[in-house]
Amino acid sequence: MRLCELASIKFDWEYNYNYANKVGIVTGKYVLPYIAVRIMLGIILFSALLIYTYRRRHASIYENIEDFLQSNTLMPIRYSYKEIKQMTKGLKVKLGEGGYGDVYRGNLISGPFVAIKMLKIKSKTNGQDFISEVATIGRIYHSNVVRLVGFCVEGSKRALVYEYMPNGSLDKYIFNKEGVISLSNDQIYEISLGVALGISYLHQGCDMQILHFDIKPHNILLDENFIPKVSDFGLAKLYPIDKSIATLTAARGTIGYMAPELFYQNIGRISHKADVYSFGMLLIEIASRRRNLNSHAEHSSQLYFPFWIYDQLVKSTVREMEDVIMEEINDVLKKIFIVALWCIQLKPVDRPSMNKVVEMLEGDIENIEMPPKPLLYPHETNQDNLDSNSNETESDWSTSYVEEIVTNPLLK
Ligand SMILES: Nc1ncnc2c1ncn2[C@@H]1O[C@H](COP(=O)(O)OP(=O)(O)OP(=O)(O)O)[C@@H](O)[C@H]1O
Ligand SMILES: [Mg+2]
Repeated sequence: MRLCELASIKFDWEYNYNYANKVGIVTGKYVLPYIAVRIMLGIILFSALLIYTYRRRHASIYENIEDFLQSNTLMPIRYSYKEIKQMTKGLKVKLGEGGYGDVYRGNLISGPFVAIKMLKIKSKTNGQDFISEVATIGRIYHSNVVRLVGFCVEGSKRALVYEYMPNGSLDKYIFNKEGVISLSNDQIYEISLGVALGISYLHQGCDMQILHFDIKPHNILLDENFIPKVSDFGLAKLYPIDKSIATLTAARGTIGYMAPELFYQNIGRISHKADVYSFGMLLIEIASRRRNLNSHAEHSSQLYFPFWIYDQLVKSTVREMEDVIMEEINDVLKKIFIVALWCIQLKPVDRPSMNKVVEMLEGDIENIEMPPKPLLYPHETNQDNLDSNSNETESDWSTSYVEEIVTNPLLK
């Protein structure tokens, strides 16, 4: 090989080497980052698209929730326990706790707040029963009833996802918790009527009758405009009662609001009138802004507030009422008290239906008769008024209702 050929090979090689080097530098400097950026952009866009689609699906479910719940075929959204944990950020914000479990604040994936009740069911209960019960209560829709958005059934875990009520439960406005505004008389009236409409809907307005069995201020939630919503309906059915425990606490309902027929068998059968009774107790508390039962009262007349109210109304000594709370009593409050006294009649048959209650609350006070004084003990009942088939003697009413109520530790 000639020298010049050798030189030319060397030149070619050097040229190629330099060229390759340059290309490599160019590739390393521009092409690879370019490709990497494109891939990354692709991944970001793709993820954004996925998130958007997921959220839209979720959001659209939530936006259409009213149609969704009104529909007879669809169910509330079923969430996995993992999703529930995500929504509540690991059960971070606890709103409170009740007899059925703890309630946490959460967010739907589409944003809105929800309240998630983690039920304390030590589940031997069938998941399918739970689902069909949820399907029933999930179909309920009324502006005075809390909406069930979703639920979770996974192993022994049970949760109910409700719309969030920013103003919390009615009890804190009645029992003067510190830093809580007090309700105006108009608000008291609107809330009373709203609750009555909600319960009336549960009893007669929807395609199945739902008896609540736990009407009390804690189960009335207030939305951002103080519109009341009945909550926790249908839970009594979800909760199997342990029949072996014959204590009051095992019974459905809450002491102080429970209808006497739940304690005493011969007053009448258990029906929608049990809710009417509880509603009456709630009305008296909301209109007087105090508890009906004062276990620390010095005089027996102060012990059971409805009696006192009754006496005051009958005497019509409204202006003479010494109690400061009663100073502001006006016709609206008076009407609420009279309706309430009808609702808490001892015998279910003497109480009005919730429809009638709504009618009375909406009507003029002049059209409502004064009810008989509500009795507290079955043995106070005029013997002629007791069911004719009753063989019960007074001594069978071993524990009086009021004793039961006052001595019950739950009240303290
Ligand atoms: N949908 C909701 N929105 C906002 N707060 C709620 C909601 N549901 C419940 N809460 C709050 O959670 C707390 C606990 O409610 P929960 O229903 O468990 O107990 P309760 O009503 O006191 O008793 P019960 O178990 O007899 O219903 C209440 O103080 C209530 O204010
Ligand atoms: Mg409740």
